[in-house]
Amino acid sequence: MVVEKSHITIEQNTEYLKRYAFLEKACMRTLAGWLPGVPEWEAKNQMGLHVWESGASADLLYQRLRELRTYQPERNISEGLKTLARELDHAQNTAELIATVYLVVKKALLEAYRSHPEVTWSEFDNPTVKTTEKVLPAIERQVAWAEGFFATIEQNYPGWQAWRDYIAGLLAADGGVTGAEVPASAPQRPENHLLLLPWKECQRMKGWPIFDPSTDVEPDRKTEPEAHRLWRFKHYLNEMTAAETLGSILWMTPEMPWEYQYNVSRHLWDEVRHSQLGQVRVQQLGLKIEDVPQVVQIYNVMMTLPAVDQYALLTTVIEPNGMPEKSTNREHWEEIEDEISAAAVSYDWSDENFHIRWGKKWTPVLLETYGYKETPEEIAARTEAWLMENTPVKMQAKMALESHQGGGHG
Ligand SMILES: [Fe+2]
Ligand SMILES: [Fe+2]
Repeated sequence: MVVEKSHITIEQNTEYLKRYAFLEKACMRTLAGWLPGVPEWEAKNQMGLHVWESGASADLLYQRLRELRTYQPERNISEGLKTLARELDHAQNTAELIATVYLVVKKALLEAYRSHPEVTWSEFDNPTVKTTEKVLPAIERQVAWAEGFFATIEQNYPGWQAWRDYIAGLLAADGGVTGAEVPASAPQRPENHLLLLPWKECQRMKGWPIFDPSTDVEPDRKTEPEAHRLWRFKHYLNEMTAAETLGSILWMTPEMPWEYQYNVSRHLWDEVRHSQLGQVRVQQLGLKIEDVPQVVQIYNVMMTLPAVDQYALLTTVIEPNGMPEKSTNREHWEEIEDEISAAAVSYDWSDENFHIRWGKKWTPVLLETYGYKETPEEIAARTEAWLMENTPVKMQAKMALESHQGGGHG
């Protein structure tokens, strides 16, 4: 007689946790790669947050796995789950992306986290229970957002169901999130699902105004403080393109260590937050988000460079060059008693310190990993020269020039 086991063993527990972490990371990667490809502004903003949250949940699960003496959490992950992760990238539009990443994978993960305390020996495995309690609130909010938002867009993308059924079928064929369910038979792959990643051009809703570099004139801070402020926060709103750049960089550098991927996921969300401080401020100043021209050109032109060049350019050139202007703006806004603008830029400045620190840490590792012969100084000089030729944003060129005045490169 076979006795039904009441709880999973410690070995089964680590296998479950490995699969949870693998799927969180897969969602992080797919959402990052898709960030430039989603035209809906609300979804872009939410997905930016969820890239970071998925990374943070994977990181918490890795921590618990190390306590359970599993140091290579992707070792012996099933081929079925690896296929699922690869196939997630092959969505064709926002509806297929949300219907699979959120309404199949994240929803199944959510149910697994909820039931994990009853499945494991909770009395002995309390730290895992703590971990599942920590990762639950974020994924609950993500799925709730996706269900509400999906209802507003699904009619724009007819035919998404076949792709949803296929991805759900891949998960079922591998025994579900835990791998412990009776495997279903392998699903039929729908046709016409070529890989659209990495996105060469970032997508916006039809009819949204596109930035015209020839009309981008910086108003004088002292003599036209209001015009200067509005101009500056419109550029903040456009930091969405920095987040999109990081999404493609993250997707294109899977060979890099987890810590790098985790840092880039946070960097990505920070740039979405910088866009949001622009969004909040331009709305307070009387504009609608969809009235602000979108600087899609900077993403598109940077995508002509390899991922390593893009990362070095962003973190060792553009971001260091931008620091002095932030300090000047903070002083200026404090002087004219605009405490909201001063607060916004003070958090931006604080975040940028970490972005620059990560750039110093990871650029040499990227150069090594992808076989570059250049030093970090050489790639900074080369990509800065490229920027001066190619950027559509005069502010970036001006900051680069100013950073070289009075000696010393940031
Ligand atoms: Fe930023
Ligand atoms: Fe930044």
